Amino acid sequence: MRIALYSKQLDGLKRLVEQLATDKRVSHLRTVSVDGAEAGDLSLHNVDVLILDDLIGEWITPAELEKLSNSHPDALIMLIARQDSSALFVDAVGAGVRSILRWPATPAEIDHAIAQCLDRLSRHGARHDGRTFTILAAKGGSGATFTALNLAYIWATRLEKRTLIIDLDLQYGDATFGLGESKHRSNVVQVAQDETLEASYLESACVPLRRNLFLLPSPVSLEEAARLEPSRLDNLLVLASRLFDVVIIDLPSHIDRITTCCMEHSNQVLQVVAPTVVDLRNQQRQLRYLHELGVPVAKVGTLINRMPMSERRRRNVDPFATEIERHLSNRTLGRLPRDDDAAALAIGAGESVVTVAPDSPLSRALESTAHSLLGVTAGETTMPSGWRQWLSRRRQ
Ligand SMILES: Nc1ncnc2c1ncn2[C@@H]1O[C@H](COP(=O)(O)OP(=O)(O)OP(=O)(O)O)[C@@H](O)[C@H]1O
Ligand SMILES: [Mg+2]
Repeated sequence: MRIALYSKQLDGLKRLVEQLATDKRVSHLRTVSVDGAEAGDLSLHNVDVLILDDLIGEWITPAELEKLSNSHPDALIMLIARQDSSALFVDAVGAGVRSILRWPATPAEIDHAIAQCLDRLSRHGARHDGRTFTILAAKGGSGATFTALNLAYIWATRLEKRTLIIDLDLQYGDATFGLGESKHRSNVVQVAQDETLEASYLESACVPLRRNLFLLPSPVSLEEAARLEPSRLDNLLVLASRLFDVVIIDLPSHIDRITTCCMEHSNQVLQVVAPTVVDLRNQQRQLRYLHELGVPVAKVGTLINRMPMSERRRRNVDPFATEIERHLSNRTLGRLPRDDDAAALAIGAGESVVTVAPDSPLSRALESTAHSLLGVTAGETTMPSGWRQWLSRRRQ
Protein backbone atom coordinates (compact mmCIF):
# COMPACT_ATOMS: atom_id res chain seq x y z
CA MET A 1 0.00 0.00 0.00
CA ARG A 2 1.43 3.39 -1.02
CA ILE A 3 0.77 6.26 1.35
CA ALA A 4 1.30 10.01 0.89
CA LEU A 5 1.07 12.06 4.08
CA TYR A 6 0.62 15.83 3.82
CA SER A 7 1.06 17.94 6.93
CA LYS A 8 1.92 21.39 8.21
CA GLN A 9 3.54 20.04 11.34
CA LEU A 10 5.27 16.77 10.45
CA ASP A 11 7.30 16.97 13.66
CA GLY A 12 4.14 16.48 15.66
CA LEU A 13 3.37 13.29 13.70
CA LYS A 14 6.71 11.64 14.40
CA ARG A 15 5.07 8.66 16.09
CA LEU A 16 2.68 8.11 13.18
CA VAL A 17 5.48 8.38 10.59
CA GLU A 18 7.62 5.90 12.52
CA GLN A 19 4.75 3.45 12.81
CA LEU A 20 3.93 3.69 9.09
CA ALA A 21 7.59 3.39 8.13
CA THR A 22 7.89 0.05 9.91
CA ASP A 23 4.47 -1.32 8.97
CA LYS A 24 5.03 -4.15 6.50
CA ARG A 25 1.66 -3.46 4.84
CA VAL A 26 2.99 -0.07 3.74
CA SER A 27 5.26 -0.42 0.73
CA HIS A 28 5.87 3.25 0.09
CA LEU A 29 5.56 6.24 2.38
CA ARG A 30 5.96 9.80 1.15
CA THR A 31 5.75 12.64 3.64
CA VAL A 32 5.20 16.17 2.37
CA SER A 33 5.45 19.31 4.43
CA VAL A 34 2.91 21.70 2.93
CA ASP A 35 4.92 24.79 3.84
CA GLY A 36 5.42 26.56 0.57
CA ALA A 37 3.50 23.91 -1.40
CA GLU A 38 0.27 24.78 -3.18
CA ALA A 39 -2.81 22.59 -2.89
CA GLY A 40 -2.77 22.50 -6.69
CA ASP A 41 0.54 20.56 -6.54
CA LEU A 42 -1.10 17.72 -4.63
CA SER A 43 -0.93 14.62 -6.77
CA LEU A 44 -2.53 11.22 -6.24
CA HIS A 45 -0.50 9.60 -8.99
CA ASN A 46 0.75 6.22 -7.67
CA VAL A 47 -0.88 6.80 -4.27
CA ASP A 48 -3.30 4.37 -2.62
CA VAL A 49 -3.96 6.35 0.54
CA LEU A 50 -3.69 10.11 0.94
CA ILE A 51 -3.48 11.26 4.57
CA LEU A 52 -4.25 14.93 5.16
CA ASP A 53 -3.25 16.31 8.53
CA ASP A 54 -6.13 18.65 9.34
CA LEU A 55 -5.64 20.66 6.14
CA ILE A 56 -9.18 20.87 4.83
CA GLY A 57 -10.47 24.40 4.72
CA GLU A 58 -7.22 26.19 5.44
CA TRP A 59 -4.85 24.67 2.86
CA ILE A 60 -7.16 22.83 0.50
CA THR A 61 -10.80 23.75 0.03
CA PRO A 62 -13.46 21.01 0.16
CA ALA A 63 -14.23 21.75 -3.52
CA GLU A 64 -10.58 21.27 -4.55
CA LEU A 65 -10.39 18.03 -2.60
CA GLU A 66 -13.60 16.74 -4.14
CA LYS A 67 -12.26 17.42 -7.62
CA LEU A 68 -9.06 15.56 -6.81
CA SER A 69 -10.88 12.61 -5.30
CA ASN A 70 -13.21 12.35 -8.32
CA SER A 71 -10.24 12.24 -10.66
CA HIS A 72 -8.64 9.36 -8.64
CA PRO A 73 -11.56 7.19 -7.57
CA ASP A 74 -9.23 4.30 -6.55
CA ALA A 75 -7.36 6.37 -3.96
CA LEU A 76 -8.57 6.57 -0.37
CA ILE A 77 -8.44 9.83 1.54
CA MET A 78 -7.90 9.80 5.29
CA LEU A 79 -8.18 12.88 7.49
CA ILE A 80 -6.26 13.36 10.69
CA ALA A 81 -8.67 15.38 12.80
CA ARG A 82 -7.12 17.52 15.51
CA GLN A 83 -10.41 19.20 16.42
CA ASP A 84 -13.83 17.79 17.11
CA SER A 85 -16.01 19.70 14.66
CA SER A 86 -19.06 18.12 13.11
CA ALA A 87 -19.18 20.81 10.39
CA LEU A 88 -15.61 19.89 9.37
CA PHE A 89 -16.47 16.16 9.29
CA VAL A 90 -19.51 16.80 7.06
CA ASP A 91 -17.42 18.92 4.66
CA ALA A 92 -14.63 16.34 4.66
CA VAL A 93 -16.90 13.38 3.93
CA GLY A 94 -18.66 15.38 1.22
CA ALA A 95 -15.27 16.09 -0.36
CA GLY A 96 -14.36 12.39 -0.53
CA VAL A 97 -12.71 11.63 2.85
CA ARG A 98 -13.40 7.98 3.68
CA SER A 99 -11.54 7.57 6.95
CA ILE A 100 -10.98 9.84 9.95
CA LEU A 101 -8.22 9.36 12.51
CA ARG A 102 -8.63 11.49 15.61
CA TRP A 103 -5.34 12.92 16.81
CA PRO A 104 -3.59 12.13 19.09
CA ALA A 105 -4.09 8.45 18.27
CA THR A 106 -2.71 5.39 20.02
CA PRO A 107 -0.62 2.84 18.07
CA ALA A 108 -3.62 0.48 18.16
CA GLU A 109 -5.89 3.14 16.63
CA ILE A 110 -3.35 3.83 13.87
CA ASP A 111 -3.05 0.12 13.22
CA HIS A 112 -6.83 -0.20 13.02
CA ALA A 113 -7.07 2.73 10.56
CA ILE A 114 -4.44 1.13 8.29
CA ALA A 115 -6.23 -2.24 8.43
CA GLN A 116 -9.48 -0.51 7.41
CA CYS A 117 -7.79 1.18 4.45
CA LEU A 118 -6.35 -2.12 3.30
CA ASP A 119 -9.71 -3.75 3.60
CA ARG A 120 -11.39 -1.04 1.53
CA LEU A 121 -8.68 -1.09 -1.10
CA SER A 122 -8.94 -4.85 -1.51
CA ARG A 123 -12.71 -4.58 -1.87
CA HIS A 124 -12.13 -2.13 -4.73
CA GLY A 125 -9.50 -4.43 -6.20
CA ALA A 126 -6.93 -1.63 -5.89
CA ARG A 127 -4.69 -3.32 -3.36
CA HIS A 128 -1.37 -4.74 -4.46
CA ASP A 129 0.62 -6.95 -2.16
CA GLY A 130 4.03 -6.65 -3.81
CA ARG A 131 6.89 -6.69 -1.33
CA THR A 132 10.07 -4.82 -2.21
CA PHE A 133 13.44 -5.55 -0.65
CA THR A 134 16.76 -3.84 -1.23
CA ILE A 135 19.88 -5.78 -0.43
CA LEU A 136 23.39 -4.42 -0.05
CA ALA A 137 26.62 -5.65 1.47
CA ALA A 138 28.10 -3.80 4.42
CA LYS A 139 31.41 -4.34 2.68
CA GLY A 140 31.96 -5.39 -0.95
CA GLY A 141 32.10 -9.16 -1.37
CA SER A 142 30.08 -10.06 1.75
CA GLY A 143 27.57 -11.95 -0.42
CA ALA A 144 24.71 -9.55 -1.26
CA THR A 145 24.27 -10.70 -4.88
CA PHE A 146 24.68 -14.35 -3.98
CA THR A 147 22.06 -14.06 -1.22
CA ALA A 148 19.66 -12.03 -3.40
CA LEU A 149 19.74 -14.61 -6.19
CA ASN A 150 19.26 -17.55 -3.86
CA LEU A 151 16.41 -15.96 -1.89
CA ALA A 152 14.72 -14.91 -5.15
CA TYR A 153 15.04 -18.45 -6.51
CA ILE A 154 13.29 -19.87 -3.43
CA TRP A 155 10.51 -17.25 -3.47
CA ALA A 156 9.84 -17.92 -7.15
CA THR A 157 10.10 -21.67 -7.39
CA ARG A 158 9.24 -22.92 -3.90
CA LEU A 159 6.80 -20.26 -2.71
CA GLU A 160 5.28 -19.61 -6.14
CA LYS A 161 5.77 -15.83 -5.89
CA ARG A 162 6.31 -13.96 -9.14
CA THR A 163 9.72 -12.49 -8.38
CA LEU A 164 11.83 -9.81 -10.05
CA ILE A 165 15.51 -9.20 -9.35
CA ILE A 166 16.62 -5.69 -10.30
CA ASP A 167 20.38 -5.37 -10.64
CA LEU A 168 21.21 -1.79 -9.70
CA ASP A 169 24.91 -2.31 -9.14
CA LEU A 170 25.37 -0.02 -12.13
CA GLN A 171 29.12 -0.48 -12.51
CA TYR A 172 29.82 -4.06 -11.49
CA GLY A 173 26.40 -5.70 -11.69
CA ASP A 174 26.88 -9.45 -11.98
CA ALA A 175 23.44 -10.85 -11.17
CA THR A 176 23.22 -12.05 -14.80
CA PHE A 177 25.82 -14.72 -14.13
CA GLY A 178 24.52 -16.24 -10.90
CA LEU A 179 21.73 -18.34 -12.35
CA GLY A 180 23.29 -19.10 -15.72
CA GLU A 181 24.19 -16.31 -18.07
CA SER A 182 21.31 -15.40 -20.29
CA LYS A 183 21.10 -13.28 -23.38
CA HIS A 184 19.40 -9.94 -22.93
CA ARG A 185 18.95 -6.77 -24.88
CA SER A 186 17.46 -4.31 -22.39
CA ASN A 187 18.79 -3.12 -19.07
CA VAL A 188 17.39 -1.35 -16.04
CA VAL A 189 18.54 2.13 -17.15
CA GLN A 190 16.96 1.85 -20.60
CA VAL A 191 13.69 0.76 -19.05
CA ALA A 192 13.67 3.39 -16.28
CA GLN A 193 14.53 6.22 -18.70
CA ASP A 194 11.69 5.31 -21.05
CA GLU A 195 9.47 8.40 -21.15
CA THR A 196 6.16 6.55 -21.16
CA LEU A 197 7.03 3.46 -19.18
CA GLU A 198 4.23 0.95 -19.47
CA ALA A 199 3.63 -2.45 -17.91
CA SER A 200 3.96 -4.27 -21.25
CA TYR A 201 7.40 -2.74 -21.92
CA LEU A 202 8.66 -3.56 -18.44
CA GLU A 203 7.40 -7.14 -18.72
CA SER A 204 9.05 -7.61 -22.09
CA ALA A 205 12.37 -6.18 -20.88
CA CYS A 206 12.65 -8.61 -17.93
CA VAL A 207 14.80 -11.64 -18.66
CA PRO A 208 13.08 -14.89 -17.65
CA LEU A 209 15.49 -16.98 -15.55
CA ARG A 210 13.27 -19.73 -14.15
CA ARG A 211 9.60 -20.35 -13.56
CA ASN A 212 8.23 -17.16 -11.90
CA LEU A 213 11.70 -15.63 -11.75
CA PHE A 214 12.81 -12.62 -13.80
CA LEU A 215 15.80 -10.30 -13.94
CA LEU A 216 16.21 -6.69 -14.99
CA PRO A 217 19.97 -6.56 -15.66
CA SER A 218 22.37 -3.69 -15.04
CA PRO A 219 23.85 -1.83 -18.02
CA VAL A 220 27.32 -2.69 -19.27
CA SER A 221 28.58 0.79 -20.04
CA LEU A 222 29.46 3.65 -17.70
CA GLU A 223 27.88 6.13 -20.06
CA GLU A 224 24.58 4.27 -19.94
CA ALA A 225 24.75 3.93 -16.13
CA ALA A 226 25.22 7.69 -15.72
CA ARG A 227 21.91 8.38 -17.51
CA LEU A 228 19.78 7.01 -14.69
CA GLU A 229 17.76 9.68 -12.87
CA PRO A 230 16.21 8.92 -9.45
CA SER A 231 12.85 10.45 -10.47
CA ARG A 232 12.63 7.99 -13.37
CA LEU A 233 13.63 5.13 -11.11
CA ASP A 234 10.63 6.02 -8.90
CA ASN A 235 8.19 5.17 -11.70
CA LEU A 236 9.93 1.92 -12.50
CA LEU A 237 9.92 0.74 -8.89
CA VAL A 238 6.26 1.59 -8.37
CA LEU A 239 5.28 -0.27 -11.55
CA ALA A 240 7.47 -3.26 -10.67
CA SER A 241 5.88 -3.60 -7.24
CA ARG A 242 2.47 -3.69 -8.94
CA LEU A 243 3.41 -6.34 -11.48
CA PHE A 244 5.40 -8.71 -9.26
CA ASP A 245 4.71 -10.35 -5.90
CA VAL A 246 8.27 -9.76 -4.74
CA VAL A 247 10.94 -7.38 -6.03
CA ILE A 248 14.51 -7.58 -4.76
CA ILE A 249 16.96 -4.83 -5.72
CA ASP A 250 20.63 -5.75 -5.64
CA LEU A 251 22.70 -2.66 -4.78
CA PRO A 252 26.40 -1.89 -4.51
CA SER A 253 27.63 -1.11 -0.99
CA HIS A 254 28.10 2.61 -1.55
CA ILE A 255 25.24 4.98 -0.72
CA ASP A 256 24.04 7.61 -3.19
CA ARG A 257 20.78 9.11 -4.49
CA ILE A 258 19.94 6.01 -6.50
CA THR A 259 20.43 3.65 -3.55
CA THR A 260 18.42 5.86 -1.16
CA CYS A 261 15.63 6.13 -3.73
CA CYS A 262 15.48 2.29 -3.82
CA MET A 263 15.37 2.13 -0.04
CA GLU A 264 12.54 4.63 0.16
CA HIS A 265 10.56 2.30 -2.10
CA SER A 266 11.35 -0.82 -0.09
CA ASN A 267 9.47 -2.51 2.69
CA GLN A 268 12.74 -3.78 4.03
CA VAL A 269 16.45 -3.10 3.56
CA LEU A 270 18.70 -6.14 3.98
CA GLN A 271 22.27 -5.46 5.01
CA VAL A 272 24.52 -8.45 4.37
CA VAL A 273 27.27 -8.60 6.98
CA ALA A 274 30.05 -11.13 7.50
CA PRO A 275 31.01 -11.63 11.16
CA THR A 276 34.28 -9.70 10.99
CA VAL A 277 35.35 -6.48 12.69
CA VAL A 278 35.76 -4.73 9.31
CA ASP A 279 32.23 -5.65 8.22
CA LEU A 280 30.79 -4.60 11.56
CA ARG A 281 32.53 -1.23 11.33
CA ASN A 282 31.20 -0.68 7.80
CA GLN A 283 27.74 -1.86 8.82
CA GLN A 284 27.59 0.77 11.58
CA ARG A 285 28.84 3.47 9.26
CA GLN A 286 26.33 2.51 6.57
CA LEU A 287 23.49 2.69 9.12
CA ARG A 288 24.62 6.15 10.15
CA TYR A 289 24.68 7.36 6.53
CA LEU A 290 21.20 5.92 5.93
CA HIS A 291 19.88 7.65 9.02
CA GLU A 292 21.40 10.97 7.89
CA LEU A 293 19.74 10.56 4.50
CA GLY A 294 16.34 10.02 6.10
CA VAL A 295 15.96 6.28 5.46
CA PRO A 296 14.00 4.89 8.44
CA VAL A 297 16.61 2.75 10.16
CA ALA A 298 13.84 0.55 11.58
CA LYS A 299 13.44 -0.83 8.04
CA VAL A 300 17.03 -2.04 7.99
CA GLY A 301 17.71 -5.61 9.06
CA THR A 302 20.86 -7.68 8.97
CA LEU A 303 21.61 -10.99 7.29
CA ILE A 304 24.77 -12.42 8.79
CA ASN A 305 26.48 -14.32 6.00
CA ARG A 306 29.50 -16.64 5.86
CA MET A 307 29.12 -17.63 9.49
CA PRO A 308 31.80 -20.20 10.32
CA MET A 309 30.03 -23.40 11.31
CA SER A 310 32.07 -24.29 14.40
CA GLU A 311 33.17 -22.17 17.34
CA ARG A 312 36.84 -23.02 16.62
CA ARG A 313 36.53 -21.92 12.98
CA ARG A 314 34.64 -18.87 14.11
CA ARG A 315 37.63 -17.81 16.19
CA ASN A 316 39.97 -18.47 13.24
CA VAL A 317 37.98 -16.14 10.95
CA ASP A 318 37.82 -13.38 13.52
CA PRO A 319 38.51 -13.74 17.24
CA PHE A 320 35.53 -11.46 17.88
CA ALA A 321 33.07 -13.33 15.61
CA THR A 322 30.82 -14.51 18.44
CA GLU A 323 30.86 -11.05 20.02
CA ILE A 324 29.97 -9.48 16.64
CA GLU A 325 27.01 -11.82 16.15
CA ARG A 326 25.76 -10.94 19.62
CA HIS A 327 26.15 -7.25 18.87
CA LEU A 328 24.12 -7.54 15.65
CA SER A 329 21.49 -9.84 17.10
CA ASN A 330 18.65 -7.34 17.66
CA ARG A 331 18.67 -6.47 13.93
CA THR A 332 19.35 -9.97 12.62
CA LEU A 333 16.79 -11.36 10.18
CA GLY A 334 18.75 -14.47 9.21
CA ARG A 335 22.05 -16.30 9.65
CA LEU A 336 23.69 -18.02 6.68
CA PRO A 337 26.62 -20.34 7.27
CA ARG A 338 29.80 -20.24 5.26
CA ASP A 339 29.86 -23.17 2.85
CA ASP A 340 32.54 -22.74 0.20
CA ASP A 341 31.82 -26.07 -1.50
CA ALA A 342 28.08 -25.48 -1.94
CA ALA A 343 28.64 -21.85 -3.04
CA ALA A 344 31.34 -22.83 -5.57
CA LEU A 345 29.19 -25.67 -6.91
CA ALA A 346 26.21 -23.34 -7.35
CA ILE A 347 28.23 -20.59 -9.06
CA GLY A 348 30.04 -23.09 -11.31
CA ALA A 349 26.74 -24.64 -12.43
CA GLY A 350 24.87 -21.33 -12.71
CA GLU A 351 22.31 -22.79 -10.33
CA SER A 352 20.85 -22.04 -6.92
CA VAL A 353 22.35 -23.56 -3.79
CA VAL A 354 19.08 -25.30 -2.93
CA THR A 355 19.28 -27.08 -6.31
CA VAL A 356 22.90 -28.23 -6.20
CA ALA A 357 23.24 -28.88 -2.46
CA PRO A 358 19.68 -29.31 -1.15
CA ASP A 359 20.69 -30.92 2.14
CA SER A 360 23.47 -28.51 3.04
CA PRO A 361 23.13 -26.28 6.12
CA LEU A 362 23.43 -23.27 3.77
CA SER A 363 20.38 -24.43 1.78
CA ARG A 364 18.38 -24.95 4.94
CA ALA A 365 19.31 -21.51 6.25
CA LEU A 366 18.43 -19.88 2.90
CA GLU A 367 15.06 -21.66 2.84
CA SER A 368 14.16 -20.58 6.34
CA THR A 369 15.30 -16.98 5.76
CA ALA A 370 13.33 -16.78 2.49
CA HIS A 371 10.22 -18.01 4.30
CA SER A 372 10.55 -15.73 7.29
CA LEU A 373 11.22 -12.60 5.19
CA LEU A 374 7.83 -13.07 3.54
CA GLY A 375 6.21 -14.06 6.83
CA VAL A 376 5.48 -17.57 5.53
CA THR A 377 5.84 -20.55 7.82
CA ALA A 378 7.36 -23.66 6.27
CA GLY A 379 4.03 -25.55 6.19
CA GLU A 380 2.35 -22.86 4.07
CA THR A 381 4.50 -23.41 0.98
CA THR A 382 2.33 -23.02 -2.09
CA MET A 383 2.20 -26.02 -4.35
CA PRO A 384 2.13 -25.55 -8.12
CA SER A 385 -1.48 -25.79 -9.23
CA GLY A 386 -0.82 -28.90 -11.41
CA TRP A 387 0.45 -30.78 -8.36
CA ARG A 388 -2.51 -29.60 -6.29
CA GLN A 389 -4.97 -30.92 -8.85
CA TRP A 390 -3.10 -34.23 -9.09
CA LEU A 391 -3.10 -34.60 -5.29
CA SER A 392 -6.79 -33.77 -4.93
CA ARG A 393 -7.65 -36.31 -7.66
CA ARG A 394 -5.65 -38.95 -5.76
CA ARG A 395 -7.49 -38.12 -2.57
CA GLN A 396 -10.95 -38.50 -4.14
N1 LIG B 1 27.56 -18.28 2.64
C1 LIG B 1 28.56 -18.35 1.77
N2 LIG B 1 29.46 -19.35 1.81
C2 LIG B 1 30.47 -19.41 0.93
N3 LIG B 1 30.69 -18.51 -0.05
C3 LIG B 1 29.82 -17.50 -0.15
C4 LIG B 1 28.73 -17.35 0.74
N4 LIG B 1 28.05 -16.23 0.38
C5 LIG B 1 28.68 -15.69 -0.68
N5 LIG B 1 29.75 -16.44 -1.01
C6 LIG B 1 30.68 -16.19 -2.11
O1 LIG B 1 31.23 -14.89 -1.94
C7 LIG B 1 31.53 -14.33 -3.20
C8 LIG B 1 31.09 -12.89 -3.24
O2 LIG B 1 29.67 -12.86 -3.19
P1 LIG B 1 28.82 -11.72 -3.89
O3 LIG B 1 29.30 -11.45 -5.26
O4 LIG B 1 27.41 -12.10 -3.71
O5 LIG B 1 29.17 -10.49 -2.94
P2 LIG B 1 28.63 -9.00 -3.05
O6 LIG B 1 28.43 -8.55 -1.65
O7 LIG B 1 27.50 -8.93 -3.98
O8 LIG B 1 29.91 -8.30 -3.66
P3 LIG B 1 30.06 -7.00 -4.59
O9 LIG B 1 30.58 -5.97 -3.68
O10 LIG B 1 31.05 -7.40 -5.63
O11 LIG B 1 28.71 -6.68 -5.16
C9 LIG B 1 30.85 -15.18 -4.26
O12 LIG B 1 31.84 -15.90 -4.96
C10 LIG B 1 29.98 -16.14 -3.47
O13 LIG B 1 29.96 -17.40 -4.05
MG1 LIG C 1 27.05 -7.71 -5.64
